[in-house]
Formats: sequence, structure tokens, C-alpha cells
Amino acid sequence: MSGTARILVALLILMGAGLFLFALMAEEPREDNGTSREPKQGGAGATPDYTDPLARAHEAKPGVLDDPTSCRRCHEEIWDEWAGDRHAKAWVGKLYTELSQKHSDPNCWSCHAPRPVLQTGIDSPAEARGNYRESGINCLSCHRAGNHVAGSSKTYSDTPEVTADCGPVFDPRMARAGAQDATIKFCGVCHALHGTDQEFMRSHYYRAGKTCLSCHMEEVVGVVAKGGTPRKRHSHRMLGAHAPAMLKRAMELTARRDGNRIVARVTNAGAGHNVPTDARHRGIWVRVAFFDRYGQPVPVVINKDTGERGAEMVMDLIRLFYRHEHKTPTQIPPKGTLAQQNWRESSVSVPDAAKGGHARVRLHYALRWDWPPEKSTLVHEVKVSLE
Ligand code: HEC
Ligand code: HEC
Ligand code: HEC
Ligand code: HEC
Ligand code: HEC
Repeated sequence: MSGTARILVALLILMGAGLFLFALMAEEPREDNGTSREPKQGGAGATPDYTDPLARAHEAKPGVLDDPTSCRRCHEEIWDEWAGDRHAKAWVGKLYTELSQKHSDPNCWSCHAPRPVLQTGIDSPAEARGNYRESGINCLSCHRAGNHVAGSSKTYSDTPEVTADCGPVFDPRMARAGAQDATIKFCGVCHALHGTDQEFMRSHYYRAGKTCLSCHMEEVVGVVAKGGTPRKRHSHRMLGAHAPAMLKRAMELTARRDGNRIVARVTNAGAGHNVPTDARHRGIWVRVAFFDRYGQPVPVVINKDTGERGAEMVMDLIRLFYRHEHKTPTQIPPKGTLAQQNWRESSVSVPDAAKGGHARVRLHYALRWDWPPEKSTLVHEVKVSLE
């Protein structure tokens, strides 16, 4: 090889390495909360025109929207609601910490510590954030749009301090009574992975004009910002599977005797989507225990292979299985689609010793499907006489 050729080859190798390094750097999560990008217009529904002169006049000072903790000063009440909510725990939660190999799995970052979704766009997947990760899905993840915060009220605030520190502007993608499809897409940026949005759109709640917010942002009376007058607004405690009251509302349990069998039925009575939905590690268990005519427990075979006996027997496990398990999900679809699919039944035969006594059927919700009853939430319990 001649001298020039050797230099050329060396240069090419260097350029290759440079490009490789550049590509690596581009993969790194960005150390910002979104300043450097103009908000993308999300496809569905009307999106606000942030270039309109009124909106421009209500821009926050550059830089003040970089720190998610800055909102607490004026929005204390909403901050406290959010702090008691799962979105605030998305990064530090026990189960997430465990399953993400102590936060090291980069596949998990985009939804559990996202950049502002109005910046990255409601038609695009969430993107990972490089800073303030411990705050999970914070105020900026949902509200920041350039130098504005997108909100649900149609009046721009005229208080100069608000404009400077917050830059509120109305955005129909945020509001309970806003653009229906766009609102669903907004939540769906992260909640569409396992089709919660599609399940919802097949339900009668969707046809009735509802959105995710109808059930997950409850009406409360409170202040929007410090010093304001309390009024009707919607809570930031977006309750779900961790809230016993929500689980009760979602499911009904009935049981009856049919000849020599006990039949249990679980109905999806109040969720806007399948139960369980989304997280594949959830599980709904239906268990039965038998008691004789004197109220004494009747042990039942709990393991057919070993013949082991115990107090409670499994009747059903309702789950969205992992793909590698190659099982058909047993999830209960949302009420209002096909009526005959809105419940699931299971049955077992009554042991002779329990005749004249009673059966106790229980429904447990397990945040992690393989958790034992003691670690799960007891949602419903019904008794059936066997006299
Ligand atoms: C200096 C005080 C102050 C700070 C700091 C502040 N805000 Fe505000 N914000 C207000 C006030 C006051 C209002 C108007 C309240 C009303 O309408 O009664 C408001 C309104 C809002 C609205 C509603 C807008 C609408 O159109 O419905 C949102 C959303 C909001 N703020 C989010 C945030 C976020 C996110 C942060 C943190 C980056 C933040 N604010 C920081 C004082 C503040
Ligand atoms: C596309 C967005 C997205 C990605 C990527 C993602 N998650 Fe999630 N994750 C969610 C949503 C949405 C929920 C809430 C669903 C629910 O509660 O049913 C959730 C809930 C969870 C929960 C339940 C938390 C609890 O305490 O009950 C765990 C654990 C979890 N995710 C772990 C992970 C891990 C580990 C990864 C990476 C392998 C990951 N997630 C990647 C969106 C995502
Ligand atoms: C998961 C997304 C999400 C997160 C996180 C979030 N918000 Fe909101 N916020 C919303 C939605 C959606 C609305 C509109 C609700 C409605 O129509 O009443 C809203 C409304 C508001 C409003 C206007 C309330 C009203 O009734 O006028 C304020 C102020 C606000 N948020 C502040 C905050 C602050 C401060 C934080 C952080 C502590 C925060 N939000 C975190 C989604 C979110
Ligand atoms: C008609 C009321 C209703 C509507 C509408 C609704 N939900 Fe729910 N949602 C519930 C109830 C009740 C539960 C508790 C049952 C459960 O956890 O499965 C729940 C649970 C959840 C959970 C926790 C599920 C789990 O198993 O971990 C998530 C996540 C969720 N909803 C997201 C959404 C999203 C996103 C939308 C909009 C696409 C939505 N919900 C619409 C009522 C509703
Ligand atoms: C940027 C991603 C993202 C967006 C946007 C988002 N969520 Fe979530 N949401 C999550 C993740 C991740 C979790 C799980 C947090 C955890 O428990 O670790 C979650 C949890 C929840 C839960 C509690 C589930 C449970 O198991 O108890 C509900 C309810 C919920 N979200 C509703 C909504 C609604 C309604 C919206 C739209 C206003 C929304 N989310 C927007 C990512 C998101």
C-alpha cells in the first residue's frame, strides 16, 4: 500500500469509529425535560396553535420549566395528589425496581421516566429522560409543551407571575371535556403497549363519549394553585389496581350451587377495559373453601399430582399471559361489547363432607400473579349454603 492509500484507510477507519461513537451518543437519553424541541402537533383532534399571539404572550420564561419540582411551590394540593399516585412511583416503585434489574434495563426507561409526551408527540412512543428519573412520570411529562404548560381550562391566566413561571395554555388533548380521541391517545402513549386503549374503544363508555379521565380523575373540590378559591376540579390521584375501591368497582363475584358443583362467576362490572388490563404480571384468583354442618373446615385436595390437602382450592386464574407462556389470555373483556363475553365462570365439585355445610368463594387480586392470598387484595367474598 502506498503512503497516501495508508493515510486514506486510516482516515476511513477513524471516520467509521467517529460515526459509531456518534451513534452511541445519540442512543443516550437526553438530559433535558424538553426545552430544545418545539411541541409536535399530535394527529388526532384539534391541537392548540402555540404560535398564536395570545399563546406567545403567555410563554413562561425560558428555563423555568426545566425543573419538575418547581411546580410544587404553587400547586401544592395537586402535587400531593400526584405524589400519592402510581405515576410518581413509576421509577422508585418496589416491583419496578425489582423487575427492571434495579433500573438497569434501558427498555423500561421510556415510559417509567419519560420526556414530556406533548414534546415527543402523542402519535410517537415515549422517549427516555436523562434527569430527575426518580420523579417517574412527573408534572412535565404530562404538561410541558415548549415554554408552556398545557392545561384544561380555556382561560389564559393574566397574572404576570403565572405567565412567567408556568405559561398556562389550553390544550384539548388534556381536558376531560376535550378532544376524545386525542385524550385517549395522550394516555395511550404509554398505556397502549398491551392494548388498554383498544379495549376501551370497544366498550360502550367510548361510544358514550367518555375517556380514561372520566374514571381515573375523580371530581373533587380544591384549589388549582395556592391562594386560589376552591372549586370543582379533577384529582391527580389516578387510581387503578392498587386501590381496593377501584377493584371492587371493576368486578362482581357471584356463586351458586348447581347439583353437585359450586359455580363461581366473575363479571367485569365497572372497568372501561379488560380486567386485568395492561401489566401482564397481574392476576385475579377465584378460590373456594368448604365447611361442614358444624362450621368446621373441610380439607380439600390442592395438588392433584401429590394429593396434598389444604384449606382453599383454586377455581380460576384470570390473566393476560406472557407471550412465551403460549396460553390464551383469560381476561374479561369490557362490559358493553359482546354481552356473553363479559363474565367468566368456573366450577368444582362439592366434597361429601361439606354437604349440609357451606362453601366460601373469594376473589383475590394479585399485583403479581404468583403472589399468595396473604399478599393479595381480597376484593370479594360470598357464601353458598350446601344444605
Ligand atoms: C408562581 C406560581 C406557579 C408556578 C411555579 C407554577 N404554576 Fe401552574 N399555575 C399557577 C396559577 C396561579 C395558575 C392559574 C390557576 C387558575 O386558573 O385558577 C396555574 C395554572 C396551571 C395549569 C392550568 C392551565 C390551564 O389552562 O388549565 C397547569 C396545567 C399548570 N399551572 C401546571 C404547572 C406546572 C406543570 C408547573 C411546574 C413546571 C407550574 N404550573 C408552575 C401558578 C404557578
Ligand atoms: C410502553 C410503555 C412501557 C414500557 C416500555 C414499560 N412499561 Fe412498565 N408499565 C407501563 C404502564 C402503562 C404500566 C401501568 C399498567 C398497569 O398498572 O396495569 C406499567 C406498570 C409496570 C409495573 C407495575 C408496577 C407496580 O408496582 O404494580 C412494573 C413492575 C413494570 N411496569 C415494569 C416494567 C419493566 C421491568 C419494563 C422493562 C422491561 C417496563 N415496565 C417497560 C408502561 C411501560
Ligand atoms: C399522567 C399525566 C399527568 C400528570 C403526571 C400530571 N398531570 Fe396535571 N393534569 C393532567 C390532565 C389529564 C389534566 C386535565 C384534567 C381535567 O380536565 O380536569 C390535568 C390538569 C391539571 C391542572 C389544571 C386543573 C384544573 O382543574 O384547572 C393543573 C394545575 C395541573 N394539572 C398541574 C399538575 C401538576 C403541578 C403536576 C405534578 C405534580 C401534574 N399536573 C401532573 C394530567 C397530568
Ligand atoms: C368506566 C370506567 C373506566 C374507564 C373509562 C377507564 N378505566 Fe381504567 N380502570 C377502571 C377500574 C374500575 C379499574 C380497576 C380494575 C383493574 O385494575 O383492572 C381500572 C384499572 C386501570 C389500570 C390498572 C390495571 C391493572 O390491572 O394494573 C390502568 C393502567 C388503567 N385502568 C388505565 C386506563 C386507561 C389508559 C383508560 C383509557 C384508555 C382507562 N383506564 C379507562 C375504570 C375505568
Ligand atoms: C408517560 C407515560 C404515561 C402516560 C402519558 C400516562 N401513564 Fe398512566 N402509568 C404509566 C406507568 C409507567 C404506570 C405504572 C407506574 C407504576 O406503578 O410503577 C402508570 C400507572 C397508571 C395507573 C395506575 C395503575 C395501577 O396499577 O394502579 C392509572 C390508573 C393510569 N396510569 C392512568 C393514566 C391515565 C388516565 C393517563 C392519561 C391522563 C395516563 N395514565 C398517562 C405511564 C403513563
